[in-house]
Amino acid sequence: MELVHLIYTSAAKQEDLSPEELETILHSSRVNNEKADITGILLFQDGCFFQVLEGDRQTIEPLYRKISFDRRHTNCMKLIIEPIEERCFGQWSTGYPKITKQQLSDIEGLNDFFTRGKSFSELEEGRARQLLAAFKDGKWRNNL
Ligand SMILES: Cc1cc2nc3c(=O)[nH]c(=O)nc-3n(C[C@H](O)[C@H](O)[C@H](O)COP(=O)(O)O)c2cc1C
Repeated sequence: MELVHLIYTSAAKQEDLSPEELETILHSSRVNNEKADITGILLFQDGCFFQVLEGDRQTIEPLYRKISFDRRHTNCMKLIIEPIEERCFGQWSTGYPKITKQQLSDIEGLNDFFTRGKSFSELEEGRARQLLAAFKDGKWRNNL
């Protein structure tokens, strides 16, 4: 078993994804991830997703392939896949932190980014790591 995390961003097919559609995605993710011993978080803001998946590489890689073919979103961009010593989100099969745009702009190192109206789909690896850090240790963890 090789524990890894994979982080990707994507854009919803419909920018105004309804709460019900989001709930459907979250529900199947939670049920499936729980069974597959996968943990992580999913963020949705301004029509874009940011997801962290943690688990065995042999489970994560095919899951990401499946997710990337999902027609409810597009432009999946894998930013990071690498080994980790331990999980950051071990208690959450798919945590869904409700965070406002204002709160995102308050994250250290990311204020310039979100205040300029940019979205998750424009994140690159460095900023993805800062966002991850905010949920790993920062005060936003309480929103999970
Ligand atoms: C943004 C997004 C994130 C998703 N994340 C997961 C996930 O973490 N785990 C999962 O099993 N499915 C996830 N899905 C759903 C899968 O693409 C696929 O629809 C689902 O796994 C099929 O489940 P089923 O075989 O139980 O019908 C996600 C879909 C989207 C659009």
